[in-house]
Parts: sequence; C-alpha cells; structure tokens
Amino acid sequence: MATPNKIFVLIIFFTTISSPVLAQLSVGFYASTCPSVFDTVRSATRSAINREARMGASLIRLFFHDCFVNGCDGGILLDDTTAVPGEKGTLPNANSARGYEVIDTIKTQVDRACGGSRVSCADILAIAARDSVVELGGPSYSVPVGRRDARAPSRAGTSDLPGFFEDLGPLLSKFSAKGFNAREMVALSGAHTVGQARCAVYRNRIYNDTNIDPAYATSLQANCPRATGTNDGTLAPLDPQSPNRFGNNYFQALINRRTILHSDQELFNGGSTDSIVRDYSDNPSTFSGDFANAMVKMGNLSPLTGTQGEIRTNCRRIN
Ligand code: HEM
Ligand SMILES: *[C@@H]1O[C@H](CO)[C@@H](O)[C@H](O)[C@H]1NC(C)=O
Repeated sequence: MATPNKIFVLIIFFTTISSPVLAQLSVGFYASTCPSVFDTVRSATRSAINREARMGASLIRLFFHDCFVNGCDGGILLDDTTAVPGEKGTLPNANSARGYEVIDTIKTQVDRACGGSRVSCADILAIAARDSVVELGGPSYSVPVGRRDARAPSRAGTSDLPGFFEDLGPLLSKFSAKGFNAREMVALSGAHTVGQARCAVYRNRIYNDTNIDPAYATSLQANCPRATGTNDGTLAPLDPQSPNRFGNNYFQALINRRTILHSDQELFNGGSTDSIVRDYSDNPSTFSGDFANAMVKMGNLSPLTGTQGEIRTNCRRIN
C-alpha cells in the first residue's frame, strides 16, 4: 500500500519530470538580490523608446532571436570575435538585429541599482521585451526570471530562425521544432504589428509576389529599386497602419494583402492558418491573450538555470 510519504515522493517526481524547465524560472527570483530590477528595466526601456520609437520593436525581436537560438541564454548579445564568431554576424541578424546598446545601458543601470552584477543579460532582455510590448500599447504579462547567460554563442543555432523567404510549411516546422503550434506561431507573428524591414528583405515580394495589393507594391517600388545593392536599407513598416503601436492591425493588413514579408503573407494565403488570422483580426482581446501566453512560453525555451552558465558583467562578452 502506498504510504503518504511514498505518494509525496511520487508527486515530486512527476511534477519535476513533467515540467523540468518551467519549474526553474519564477517572477520573484530576484526579490532579495535585486528587488528593483523590474522598475529599473521598465524606466530604462521607456526612455529608450521615447528617444527612438522603433526601439520597442527592435527589443521584442532581439528577445525572439535570443530564445529561438539555443534557448533564452543571452547568446545573441555576445559580440563576434575572430576566435569565436557569434550570432550577431549571421544572416538573420547582421545589419538587422538592433538594440544592443540599449541592453548595455539597462544592464549598467540595473547593476548600479542593485549594487553589483546580479541579474543576467538574458533576463534583462526578457523583461525589456515585455516592457516594450506594454509601452507600445500591447498586453502586459508577468515575466518569470532566473535565466543565466551562456558562456558561448550558438552560431549554428541561428539556422533555427525562420526566414522571410519561407513558405507556410517550413515556417510551421520551425515553430513546431520549438514546441509551438500553428495558433501560437500566428499569435507570435502578431509582433509584426510594430517595426520595420529593409528593402533587401521585401524587394523580391514587391516585384515578384502576386499575393500583394498591387497599388501598395507599386508605392514601395519607388524607394526600393529592382537592382540588388541599390537602396537595400530603405525601411518600410511591417504593418502599414501603425508601426509604433501594438495592436491587431497586422492581421487586417494580412487580410488586405498589404504586407511586405513573403513569410507574413503566407499566414493568410488560402492555407490552414487563414482562419486564425481572421479570428485575431476580429477579436483583438483573443489576440492579446494568446500573444502574452506565447511570449511567456517563448521565454521558457531551454534557459540555463541554477549553476549553469554565468551572470555576465558585460552582456557583450563572457566573464
Ligand atoms: C514567423 C516567422 C518570422 C519571420 C520569417 C520574421 C522575419 C522578420 C524579418 C525579415 C524582419 C525585418 C528584418 C530586417 O529587414 O532587417 C523582421 C522584423 C521584426 N520581427 Fe520578425 N519574423 C518572424 C517572427 C517574429 C516573431 C515571433 C517576433 C516576436 C515575437 C518577431 C518580431 C519582429 C519585430 C518586432 C520586427 C521589427 C524589428 C525592428 O523594427 O527593429 N518576428 N522579422
Ligand atoms: C524575381 O524572380 C526572379 C526569378 O526567381 C529573380 O531572378 C529575380 O531576381 C526576382 N526579382 C527581384 C526584384 O527580386
């Protein structure tokens, strides 16, 4: 017969193996070592966005590119060196991912507020991404913390990131490999309600894709000529209605075919995700809730915890 003691041991056993990762992060992780971390990150993130409206979008993306590459371990923040080429110089990030200086500034402020280097760069990025969503008008959610920083970047892991040139099937596979279903992928893609993309990324779409509003494509062609290497850096909003305002307009843009990423329009192109796009377009609060849940889930992608990794003093290099 099972004694209460044995039952207790079994309960511990099963809760441990069923959620080995979720069990480790907690909102109160820094309650005694750095109680002001959330306040400090929020005000620093707010100042950065007040200085440059686009920065909120850039920080949200940085968090995504951290978590999808070998987990949320601050790996993307490490500078490339000749000896150890990192994640920054790879195709998805080079001349594209931005906001590194802002993370440096926030880290300095957090360390000053808490009298030492007690908070990981990976956690600072996770909190700053949430604060960016909120600052731009999106939903709030709690950020469990306790991540530690990688002692090496994961350059090869950047191939896990989805590409703007990909079709729906490959996009679904890449998200599925990280544990996200189609609905979660569409919700997370709603982050494209804010931010910008470069001509180099949308050129092919505005000249070759047929599932784009023709007048919209023509208007973009004026500053993004056909020839590769000309005006590659010209920016256009991912969501033409309100690039600095977090809402569900992105889903309306998909329905109107006024999007600039091939991958975005794949979410509404006669396939299995069309109905999800319509749902989010019709129900902003459904989108908000699903987006917040998916962001927390993304923040749980294989973090380093306990004695793994380190707490970097400088987010750009290992200690
Ligand atoms: C579904 C697969 C996705 C693809 C293929 C994709 C691709 C891209 C590309 C190509 C850009 C423009 C980069 C440039 O021109 O330099 C971009 C920007 C952005 N992405 Fe994604 N993305 C995806 C999903 C996500 C997710 C899940 C998030 C966050 C939750 C996200 C957040 C952002 C944000 C906020 C920007 C604008 C950044 C800025 O203005 O600095 N993306 N994305
Ligand atoms: C359009 O597609 C063709 C064929 O794939 C390609 O060679 C060309 O570079 C594309 N045009 C642009 C502007 O990307």
